[in-house]
Amino acid sequence: MSWKIPLFKIYWDEADIEAVKEVISSGMNWATGPKVEEFERLIAEYTGTSHAVAFNSGTSALHAAMIAHGITEGDEVIVPSFTFIATANAPLFVRARPVFADVEEETYGLDPGDVVGKITQKTRAIMPVHVGGCPCKIRELREIAEDHHLLLIEDAAESLGSRIGDEKVGSYGESAMFSFCAPKVITTGEGGVIVTDSLDITERLKLLRSHGRAETRDYFSTNEYLDYVTLGYNFRLSNIIAALGIAQLKKIDEIIGMRRENSRFLTQLLERRAPAVRTPRSPKDYYHLFQMYTVRCRHRDGLMKYLGDQGIMAKVYFPPVHLTHFYRNVLGYRCDLPVTEKLARECLTLPMYPALSRDEMITMADQIASFFQGVPA
Ligand SMILES: Cc1ncc(COP(=O)(O)O)c(C=O)c1O
Repeated sequence: MSWKIPLFKIYWDEADIEAVKEVISSGMNWATGPKVEEFERLIAEYTGTSHAVAFNSGTSALHAAMIAHGITEGDEVIVPSFTFIATANAPLFVRARPVFADVEEETYGLDPGDVVGKITQKTRAIMPVHVGGCPCKIRELREIAEDHHLLLIEDAAESLGSRIGDEKVGSYGESAMFSFCAPKVITTGEGGVIVTDSLDITERLKLLRSHGRAETRDYFSTNEYLDYVTLGYNFRLSNIIAALGIAQLKKIDEIIGMRRENSRFLTQLLERRAPAVRTPRSPKDYYHLFQMYTVRCRHRDGLMKYLGDQGIMAKVYFPPVHLTHFYRNVLGYRCDLPVTEKLARECLTLPMYPALSRDEMITMADQIASFFQGVPA
C-alpha cells in the first residue's frame, strides 16, 4: 500500500550518495575497510564512550554483546516486554532466560521498582530500552545494577543522541547498542553498533564479529595467515555502508532538531484540536528526540483504521513480546505486566520524520479530531 503520509521517511541528501559512490568507485574495500573504523571512532565520540564496534544489524550487535559479556545458559536477563522482540531474543540466543519486568508510564521504559522485584540469584544483567528516542529511568536502573552487582546493557536502538542533562544514552551501562535500521534517527538501511568503555569487551566483540579471527591486519588485503582463536560469526558492517553511516552521522543534530520541532508543532495542534489523545510527555531534563511520536487514547484500534482509510499510516509500538505466539505458546511465558498491557492497548505511533510538513500535521490533527467527533465520549 502506498500511504499519503507514511509512518517514516528517510532523511538523505547528495552527500550520502557521494559517500557511497566514493567507496564503490575505489574498486576496493567493499567489505572491510577504513570507513568502518572511522564510523566507529565518530560514534564513540558522539556518544561520549571510549570504543564502538559496528555490526550488520542491531540484533547481531546485541547477540555479540551477550556473548562478549559472558551471559550464558542458566543466567537471567531482565528486559521489558514493551519493546521490539530482538531485545528479549538476545538472551535466548545464548540460552539465557529473558525475564520480563513492567514499564512505567512516563517514559515507557523499565520500571525500576518492578525490576528490583524480578532480581533473583540467577540474574546477570538488566537490559533496559530507551523507547522511541526517550531516555528511560536509566539513572535509577544504574543504581540498582550497581547495588546488586549486575551488568547494565542498554538497548538504545531507537535513541542515538537522546540524553538526560548532558549525559547521552549509551554511556550509562557497561555496553549499549544503537540500530541503524531504516526508521531510526540516522540509518544505513541495516546496521548496528555497540559502544562501551571496556577495551576487553571491544576486543571480544571484534573477534565475534568476524569468524573469531585475530585481525591484526585487514584480512582481504594481506596474505599473512591470521589465526582463528574462538567461535565467531560474520556480523560485519561493510565499508560501503559505513561510509553512508558517516555521511548520516554528520547530519544527526540537524535531523534531531527537525524531529523535535515537528513534534512540538504536532503536540500543540493535538492539544488544541484533539484533546482525546494524550500527547507524549517526558520528565524535565530528558531530551526526547522523537524517533517515534506515540499518543495514547481510547478507541485506539478504531482510530488506527480511520487514519489508515485516509492514507495516514499509524502503527502500534509495541505489541508486548510476552503475548506473541512464540513467547506464550512455544516458550510458555505467563506474565503479570499490567502497565505494559495497558500501554499496548492504548498507544498509537503517528507519522514523525524531518520532512513531515506543517500541512501534513494539520491534516493528521484534523483527521484525529474528526474521528473523535464520531465516537461516544
Ligand atoms: C528496541 C529495539 N531493539 C532492537 C532492535 C533490533 O535492531 P535491528 O533491526 O537493527 O536488528 C530494534 C530495531 O528495530 C529496536 O527497536
